[in-house]
Amino acid sequence: MKTGSGGEEAPLPRHVAIIMDGNGRWAKARNLPRSVGHERGVEALRKTVEGARDLGLSHLTVFSFSTENWRRPVSEVNALFGLLKMYVSQDLKKLKADGVRIRVLGTRAGLPEDVRLLVDQAQSETCHNDKFNLCIAFNYGGREELMRAARQLAADVVKGVADLDDFDEESFGQYLDTRGLPDPDLVIRTSGEMRISNFLIWQAAYTELVFMDVLWPDFRPKHLNEAIASYQTRQRRFGGLAVGSL
Ligand code: FPP
Repeated sequence: MKTGSGGEEAPLPRHVAIIMDGNGRWAKARNLPRSVGHERGVEALRKTVEGARDLGLSHLTVFSFSTENWRRPVSEVNALFGLLKMYVSQDLKKLKADGVRIRVLGTRAGLPEDVRLLVDQAQSETCHNDKFNLCIAFNYGGREELMRAARQLAADVVKGVADLDDFDEESFGQYLDTRGLPDPDLVIRTSGEMRISNFLIWQAAYTELVFMDVLWPDFRPKHLNEAIASYQTRQRRFGGLAVGSL
């Protein structure tokens, strides 16, 4: 990874988010069912969480199931529910011991009761952890999140709890699933597709994007390092001017 001209380390992104794409193609290339691609995807996720922690990142968000993924066959949707339950139930003890805080972003609407209970348990049992933040976007869609936030805001205005006159971007952020989290500095998408696919569309307004050809089940910490090295070459201006250009 890059160091600055004086030998100092270039800053790490505070928050990395990943669109884990390509499980289906990985399985198809091996004549395996798509569900096997998703299973291998969980393995890649485990390795990535370890890699992110080893690197010293503080926030990792992964896109595991979108509000649009309901359009897939029921068997695949159920396989993804099963994998979330397996991941949370098998890894919760270790994640807790490692000081990882888990948050699940997205709507609970439509999720089976057992998935909802497990998600709530994982969040409440890790809510005091602060060594690393793992956010799992599950049944998540950026537009759905914004609609839910807008509806809640409207309800609060009617109740007199929110005042539109002193409402700004920061206070709107409190209505989003990501409240309290820094915006992602870097979004990585695997599998060669170059889209944002309704992922963190408010939060990623100024994020740096890295698209990688690797299919998600083959993603390893070295790919995370490569993406971060690319991020470290970027000049972030947030709509302003580069330092020294005036
Ligand atoms: C996109 O690949 C991936 C998904 C829709 C699911 C991502 C899920 C995992 C990595 C495993 C589950 C993890 C948890 C924590 C539940 P795709 O299936 O669209 O691949 P394709 O574009 O090649 O068909």
